[in-house]
Amino acid sequence: MTASLKSKLIEVQQCLGCMHEGTVITSADGTILEATTAAERILETPSISLKGSNIRTLCRGLDVYDEMVRKAVAEKRCLNRSLVVDAAGKRKLVNMSLERVDDSGEVRLVHVFQDCADLRTMEERLLQFERLATIGRFASQIAHEVRNPLSSISLNVELLEDEIGESNAEARGLIRSVLRELDRLNDIVSEYLQFSRFPKPQLKKGQVDAIIHDLVGSWKPPAAVRVEVALMDSSPEVWFDERLLRQVLENLTRNAAEAIETEGAEGVVRIETDVIEKFLVIRVKDTGCGIPSEIQPKLFEPFFTTKARGTGLGLATSQQIIFEHNGHLLVESQPGKGSIFSTLLPI
Ligand SMILES: Nc1ncnc2c1ncn2[C@@H]1O[C@H](COP(=O)(O)OP(=O)(O)O)[C@@H](O)[C@H]1O
Ligand SMILES: [Mg+2]
Repeated sequence: MTASLKSKLIEVQQCLGCMHEGTVITSADGTILEATTAAERILETPSISLKGSNIRTLCRGLDVYDEMVRKAVAEKRCLNRSLVVDAAGKRKLVNMSLERVDDSGEVRLVHVFQDCADLRTMEERLLQFERLATIGRFASQIAHEVRNPLSSISLNVELLEDEIGESNAEARGLIRSVLRELDRLNDIVSEYLQFSRFPKPQLKKGQVDAIIHDLVGSWKPPAAVRVEVALMDSSPEVWFDERLLRQVLENLTRNAAEAIETEGAEGVVRIETDVIEKFLVIRVKDTGCGIPSEIQPKLFEPFFTTKARGTGLGLATSQQIIFEHNGHLLVESQPGKGSIFSTLLPI
């Protein structure tokens, strides 16, 4: 392969690296000459094994592939066909386009492809993002409308409490319960506002340990809940927005404690850090009620709640924040035993 084509490939690799698209360059007969890192990932084969082999051995639907080659050779390019490829023995559906390039008189075929599973994830993320943006606008409008009257009601009820004096115990009791409900309404409004206007994260590189210690230090969990922290000796640095990541961990630990409280028994919330492949993992584990498998897919939907007094916004907000960090928020749970929420941040 000529140096100019190779440098083009490196350029393409740099541009496409962030888009998860794999690129493979072959000669006219299909012998693989180059494969990008994303191609190695999708095909689950190191480029050293890919190079020299024939791309046709990786394609399951040879009719479709051969037709693509015919079209690309005749018309220079063939766009987006779905094709099943063999990725280290696994069948994977990819979306591929093919381009013919002339490299100093030799015909080369440039295959650019994307794992459809990745595409689906991206689509899902985009859909969720749009849904959240719409709901966010409503939530923010409602919250603003409610907030001002709410604070004037609180103020007036507090004044009334002073007026009543110590002697009227019954009236004071009633006023206190009004104030408690007002506090709760205020919390709901804050949660709506938090959900509707979380800003673009300001990512800084560092260790997450300090936020976890800080969060645990200032948290007053219910009496039935014991908190444990088990952090790695030296966790790798990741990019994160301190305030937003703390918000996520607050949501997860609060849910964990609430899951223990609903059981009516004592339990443990444990926060751990770990590394899996290229991610730092922060796990929030609880020994609470667990989550039935049929509701697990709904957890991250805005307003999904099983609590009489829940908003259903904690996990939706948290997932969106973690997506903005290019990370993942995963759940594993066994009803009756407890749950694990894992926050994965790229290292
Ligand atoms: N640690 C947990 N254990 C059991 N169920 C959980 C846990 N975390 C979340 N859930 C479930 O997910 C739902 C949505 O959580 P969330 O979005 O934080 O909203 P909310 O806490 O207001 O209900 C909860 O109502 C609950 O059913
Ligand atoms: Mg919650």
